[in-house]
Amino acid sequence: MEIITAASVLAADLGNLSAEVGKCAEADVDMIHFDVMDGRFVEQITYGAPVLKWVRKATDIPIDAHLMVEDPTRQIEFFAEAGADIIDIHIESDCDVTACLKRIRALGKKSALAVKPGTPVEQAFSYLPLCDMLLIMTVEPGYGGQGFIPEMLPKIEKAREFAEKNSFSVDIEVDGGVNEKTAALCRTAGANVLVAGTALMKAADMKAANSALKGTS
Ligand code: DX5
Ligand code: ZN
Repeated sequence: MEIITAASVLAADLGNLSAEVGKCAEADVDMIHFDVMDGRFVEQITYGAPVLKWVRKATDIPIDAHLMVEDPTRQIEFFAEAGADIIDIHIESDCDVTACLKRIRALGKKSALAVKPGTPVEQAFSYLPLCDMLLIMTVEPGYGGQGFIPEMLPKIEKAREFAEKNSFSVDIEVDGGVNEKTAALCRTAGANVLVAGTALMKAADMKAANSALKGTS
């Protein structure tokens, strides 16, 4: 399976966002991961669709908008218009999950459903026909730079097995504490989209770090 890497700009120098995003493309990173926090679903507030619009101008690589917000319903339109390619909503958020996933696709974007560490992955299974990607959080959402939770690996395995059994061509993304070591565990478990903030943005050599995540170095 082709491994896709996504750089979380949460770990970037946000005062130089365009340049930072440019560096990702130069390092052959496949996607930009854009963490949206509203101060309610999680403690912090980061950035929203008006900022994503500028990231869109800075790069041609796909942008994955991870909405850690209490109710993503109204935000979907804004992020689609701002140029996101994938829009990830949380199953734990206060919304009509089916309607939101359908809306994302109706706007011509890829839909993704995210599950927090405490949420059994089986809860996402009935939504998979509406999902292009399943995001399995490997840390508690809210902050970059946390340690990978190894207990999440069986969730990845279960999800990949379920998708294969049912012939769903769904990407499985992991997010949080992903580095060269944990990426290998995630790939073996069946994840094919690897989000990394610290491991990519703070690497001395981003290109080498990107290859290490893919297991090609
Ligand atoms: C956490 C975010 C992650 C975070 C990952 O809530 O969803 O995308 O930026 O950062 P690292 O790779 O440093 O754990
Ligand atoms: Zn994220």
